[in-house]
Amino acid sequence: MRLLSLQSMSLLPELYGLFHRVYRLKNCNIHSKAVEFSMKPLKCNNQIKPMKTLVVYDSVYGNTRKIAEKIAQTLKTQAQNIKETEPQFLGENELIIIGTPTHAFNPTPEMKNFIKKIPERSLENTKFATFDTRSDIKTINSPILTFAAKIFGYAAKPLARMLIRKGGVLITEPIGFFVMGTEGPLKENELVKAEKWAQKLNE
Ligand SMILES: Cc1cc2nc3c(=O)[nH]c(=O)nc-3n(C[C@H](O)[C@H](O)[C@H](O)COP(=O)(O)O)c2cc1C
Repeated sequence: MRLLSLQSMSLLPELYGLFHRVYRLKNCNIHSKAVEFSMKPLKCNNQIKPMKTLVVYDSVYGNTRKIAEKIAQTLKTQAQNIKETEPQFLGENELIIIGTPTHAFNPTPEMKNFIKKIPERSLENTKFATFDTRSDIKTINSPILTFAAKIFGYAAKPLARMLIRKGGVLITEPIGFFVMGTEGPLKENELVKAEKWAQKLNE
């Protein structure tokens, strides 16, 4: 009898191994010791709930819209013009991405107006990222503009500051995308750059 129990003790690791294999959760990388011992099946949901995300933009000539649509497509969500967006409901999203053309080193007056209408602190706990489009200064060939752009910068940063004041949580450096001259088109590879940037927002 004693010999029998000693034999079964030495078999314990084998038995645990067997249980482990039998009760390993299908399609799920999480192994739960509790499951191995209690042998109860554990519900496992492999599908991570996507963040409620919205891309919002302003655009005069369509270049910022194209970038916004590429970002939205990458994040499997929609891009909305600010004209079709209610500023008071922005905070219902977990992540918002806002893009504007650079006008006089700043967001467009329409975008500034839109941000002003977002109720105070309504973006608390809402993550956000900003982008702008801007002239590729080399295509304009103006030393004064080149100098001014170095000093005053572009729209994505001031846009981010405005959203921080509404309580939003900035999750990445603001980014800019280049257009040729004033009306575009977008510089080569800017859509690829937008896609890569959007992919990182999801990580
Ligand atoms: C009134 C106006 C002011 C502009 N000011 C700037 C500027 O300060 N810096 C810059 O890089 N581009 C400037 N641009 C170029 C815009 O950034 C460019 O037209 C915009 O990125 C195009 O985007 P959209 O097609 O979405 O309108 C300006 C354009 C306009 C019409």
